Amino acid sequence: MSSHHPSPANNDPAPAREATGGAVLEVPASAAVSMQTVTSLCTMGAAFSGPTDGVLLQRALPSFVTDALLKMALDRSMSQRLWLPANGAGEGMLGLFQAWGQEIGPAERWLAEDVHALAQKVAKLLDTDKIILRVEIVDDNACRKFHRDAIRARLICTYAGPGTEYGVAEFGQDPDIVEQAGTGCPIILKGKAWPIQGDPLLAHRSPPVEGTGTKRLVVVIDEASPAFQ
Ligand SMILES: [Fe+2]
Repeated sequence: MSSHHPSPANNDPAPAREATGGAVLEVPASAAVSMQTVTSLCTMGAAFSGPTDGVLLQRALPSFVTDALLKMALDRSMSQRLWLPANGAGEGMLGLFQAWGQEIGPAERWLAEDVHALAQKVAKLLDTDKIILRVEIVDDNACRKFHRDAIRARLICTYAGPGTEYGVAEFGQDPDIVEQAGTGCPIILKGKAWPIQGDPLLAHRSPPVEGTGTKRLVVVIDEASPAFQ
């Protein structure tokens, strides 16, 4: 199919866009590419390869998974950091559930398979076969300052509780417009060590939850640096 170029030639000579009195949002080009949203895991890679600072996979967790996570007794002592071959992430998750002594039925396997798929995605995008899988139970305000990570890229998925907040900001400043990844929606963010582009415009932070009783279950997947291989 040939590409379709919007043609300025029409029957209305009036400058319609200017006439809307500001109703047309003027999104800076940089903001337009700061976070791309996709709706399937298999398109995350293509989006990430483009001139974007991050990609968000818009999706909803199956209700049986959400329900099972709600019933889980989450405690920050359960947080773990595992160095794994990328194709061992699912097994790693299953091992964690065992270590935690938590039986959450079919949701356990769903989560293990999901983390496995996300780890494979990270491994492919960063061309690595070893990953660091961090599973964190967060109930405080750690990482509450907006920042960019000093790595090439990172995947974050909040399976329970509020997701990562993000927005375009000058260095050292908070974004004017803050958006938030939905629960269960993975994001991949380019960090300061990402080659080619300059520093990302997109900053992010963990949502502050201290004192609210909210507990977040957050999975972070990084490439394992050569020092750990
Ligand atoms: Fe971060």
